[in-house]
Amino acid sequence: MILYFTGTGNSRWIAERLADATHDTVLNIADCLKQEVMPEELTAAEKIGIVFPVHSWYAPRVVVDFLLRLQLPHCRYRYAVCTCGDDMGKGMNRLAKRFPLDAAWSVAMPNTYIPMFHLDDEALCHTKIKDAYQLIASIASEVLQQKKVWKVHEGGAAWLKTYVINPLFVHFIIRSDGFYIDKGCISCGLCSQSCPVNNIETVNGHPTWGKECIHCMACVHACPQKVIQYRKATQKKGRYRLTNYL
Ligand SMILES: Cc1cc2nc3c(=O)[nH]c(=O)nc-3n(C[C@H](O)[C@H](O)[C@H](O)COP(=O)(O)O)c2cc1C
Repeated sequence: MILYFTGTGNSRWIAERLADATHDTVLNIADCLKQEVMPEELTAAEKIGIVFPVHSWYAPRVVVDFLLRLQLPHCRYRYAVCTCGDDMGKGMNRLAKRFPLDAAWSVAMPNTYIPMFHLDDEALCHTKIKDAYQLIASIASEVLQQKKVWKVHEGGAAWLKTYVINPLFVHFIIRSDGFYIDKGCISCGLCSQSCPVNNIETVNGHPTWGKECIHCMACVHACPQKVIQYRKATQKKGRYRLTNYL
């Protein structure tokens, strides 16, 4: 079984491709959280894969919390694949200290964190996705052989990013209160449907954000009118749609 978590679709896409190539099934962590159930197949699983996006050089809090609650008495092989714009720092090692892993990989995908960065340009998005197809094939082959490998791109200043910057980011940056809508909301509800932590309610036809935001940017990128903003930081930034590159 492959468990995945996604904000903007990159990690789901990787999980689904990997499941096809390894003849496995996928399960969305967000669905388990929304339904407040732990599927029985998980307890029986002999092999578990986890696919998730890197958030500030570590796994998103909800992913870590979910993994720590798993009971996997029959599992003989656990692996993780993170998707990242650039690099993972020491985030996979930090995760493996709490949720032991036999193997891990990172896959570079288009960057979605527009409050701090610009979107990758079109050419880079196409290149990353083309490379990802190849990487998924090689990860699948190693998973099928249950290889114990560690192929994670840590990047520079890895320890500092994961153990110093990440806690600061979580403490000071991850908040819901900077989100708002510009004129032009058509009340389609896609923002609340896209939120993997169920944090957006529609009030009088418009989104309002609760306190559980993890800054995944799903709502910002899902809005067909491109009117969801985070403070002033996203006003002049593009929006990302994975399907434009497949
Ligand atoms: C809150 C947040 C923090 C991020 N931090 C990092 C990071 O530390 N390093 C990196 O390479 N990419 C980072 N990214 C980019 C994402 O990891 C990348 O775009 C990922 O593929 C998004 O996956 P998703 O579409 O499944 O949500 C970040 C994205 C978000 C939303």
